[in-house]
Amino acid sequence: MKNYSKNPEFLLLGLSDISDHRILLFMCFLIMYLLNLLGNSTIIFLVRSNSNLRTPMYFFLGNLSFVDMCSTSTIVPKMLANIILTSSLYLAECIVQLYFFLVFACTECFILAIMAYDRFVAICSPLHYSMMISNRLCAMLIIVSWLSSALHSLLHSLMASTLKFCGINTIHHFFCDMTPLLHLTCSDTSLNKLLIYTEGGLPVLIPFIIVLTSYVRIISTIVKIRSRDGRSKAFSTCSSHLIVVILFYGTIFFMYMRPSSSFTVNYDRIVSVVYTIVAPMLNPFIYTLRNKEVKGALKKTFVKRRFYKS
Ligand SMILES: *[C@@H]1O[C@H](CO)[C@@H](O)[C@H](O)[C@H]1NC(C)=O
Repeated sequence: MKNYSKNPEFLLLGLSDISDHRILLFMCFLIMYLLNLLGNSTIIFLVRSNSNLRTPMYFFLGNLSFVDMCSTSTIVPKMLANIILTSSLYLAECIVQLYFFLVFACTECFILAIMAYDRFVAICSPLHYSMMISNRLCAMLIIVSWLSSALHSLLHSLMASTLKFCGINTIHHFFCDMTPLLHLTCSDTSLNKLLIYTEGGLPVLIPFIIVLTSYVRIISTIVKIRSRDGRSKAFSTCSSHLIVVILFYGTIFFMYMRPSSSFTVNYDRIVSVVYTIVAPMLNPFIYTLRNKEVKGALKKTFVKRRFYKS
């Protein structure tokens, strides 16, 4: 029988075995993290303080920004500390990080699906919009997303916490994701894998199906609009969301939907950087640059503040 400790220590390698440029990496990720916090908190502030943005679409956008801030905050501060200090972490800490990462990632999937459904109703049955998307329904959808993500993540992190580790525990990744843990363990992982390949896919697959069907209906409705003006107006209300969805699901599919023989730790890490750090940072900018109402609110707030100051 092999020896194992109940709460073994792990070394998170981060990106240090890929690149020696510690300071450059540190500055890069610090700037991306600060931009993420700045952009997303600006969106939340605008949604809360602007009467123009008091519609379900912007409530969801505010929630999306909140989730984006939280999900990177579970990863980047520890990662930045690791670039400088190369510290280790205990299994318990690792499982906690895995849990919160899963909660925020699943909630993001659900919110993207809710936003797609919201756009579907707004474009395909505009007359019934205020009846179908009530404030109560919005709040309920958000609560259900958080609760089901919390339960799902609890299940998976409890399963991960039963894994046993023997020997050298070096994680070739910048956070405790499921795949590197399954790579390292010396326990039998068949039950974990069974759970991941069955229930594990649902929080990605169900929202994806909702997004896909919503956009098929949206696009078939937009194509039928006669006037060019009407067409571009209808499309402009969902184009930012469409870009965010493509960015998010694109990288997730790139990461998980490929033959397992092509799994390499380095490739995994670089794709993970895109959907855990780069995409959440870009979301607020995509919405501000492409959305007239958000741009207007930003201008109004900024100009008003300056006016009061002088
Ligand atoms: C999130 O959504 C709920 C329900 O629609 C809303 O009341 C709340 O203000 C939103 N949160 C943010 C930060 O926008």
